[in-house]
Amino acid sequence: MRAKVLVSRRVFPEVIARLREHFDVDTNDADDVWPQAELIRRLQGRAGLFITGSEKIDATLLAACPDLRAVCSMAVGYNNIDVAACTAHGVLVSNAPDVLTETTADFGFALMMAAARRVTESERFLRRGEWKKWSYDMFAGADVHGSVLGVLGMGRIGQGVARRGALGFGMRVIYHNRSRLDAATEAQFGARYVTKLDLLRECDHLVIVVPYGPASHHLIGTAELELMKPTATLTNIARGGVVDDAALADALREGRIAAAGLDVFEGEPTVHPSLLAVPNVVLTPHIASASLPTRRAMANLAVDNLLAALSVGPNKGRPPTALNPEVLTLR
Ligand code: DGY
Repeated sequence: MRAKVLVSRRVFPEVIARLREHFDVDTNDADDVWPQAELIRRLQGRAGLFITGSEKIDATLLAACPDLRAVCSMAVGYNNIDVAACTAHGVLVSNAPDVLTETTADFGFALMMAAARRVTESERFLRRGEWKKWSYDMFAGADVHGSVLGVLGMGRIGQGVARRGALGFGMRVIYHNRSRLDAATEAQFGARYVTKLDLLRECDHLVIVVPYGPASHHLIGTAELELMKPTATLTNIARGGVVDDAALADALREGRIAAAGLDVFEGEPTVHPSLLAVPNVVLTPHIASASLPTRRAMANLAVDNLLAALSVGPNKGRPPTALNPEVLTLR
């Protein structure tokens, strides 16, 4: 008998077709995020769940879905999934690392540059028909090349940002991370490890790429923003909640930092109204990994994991990017 799986959001038709070769598949063509009760209802009798970063997978859902054996996400971030509770329920969890690293680093760099050089702010001015003459300081911003790049969170994506800064733009890279990189990796980008306080004080452009969790909630708030240079920019491609959005909006409005680029927000898709009211921030709707090839690779990696977790295909029993592979040995 074919196992039953549920795909919680709209995804590439060829990805659904791949799943249909092996499974009985239910889909969410409306693409709305189902309330938890609806997700639980649809999961009854289903062994596999394909999700994105939006669905909350917690002990309540797991207790109500006893047939569930695998939850495979096409996102790299998994703060929406209680992995320990999944392990306790014998449910395999996977995320989608690596395939989005370079695309996300590209976007982080684009946001940082757009903030520093006031790209969207000046475009809005032009579209409003307000461009009447040249002025020496019209939308004059900060240089990116040759400046100090501060990376908070030096995982794969942070290193991608650092590489772009050091090798492409001659930036001096400083970083803070839970653990220091080995000397050879630091040497690739000439990166210098500093405390979080020194990072904030010294950088011209701060890029935040830390995972979200209780330890990183409001890692950047009023006190941290106070330490930054008034000419500095802040870019967040990590998760909403790492930055206190209200505090950031205040700092931007009062000129305590120059500009920001944000792809993620606390409570997204709702955006703090104070952020919407300040001009010196570039706002994008959580699209850092959204190139078509990368989104396709993310979705296919989730399928690879689902197939392997439910014992189908070449990786049978060995999901390539499982977060709790120990679950399979206990089965
Ligand atoms: C991720 O994969 O975690 C990105 O933020 C997209 O959701």
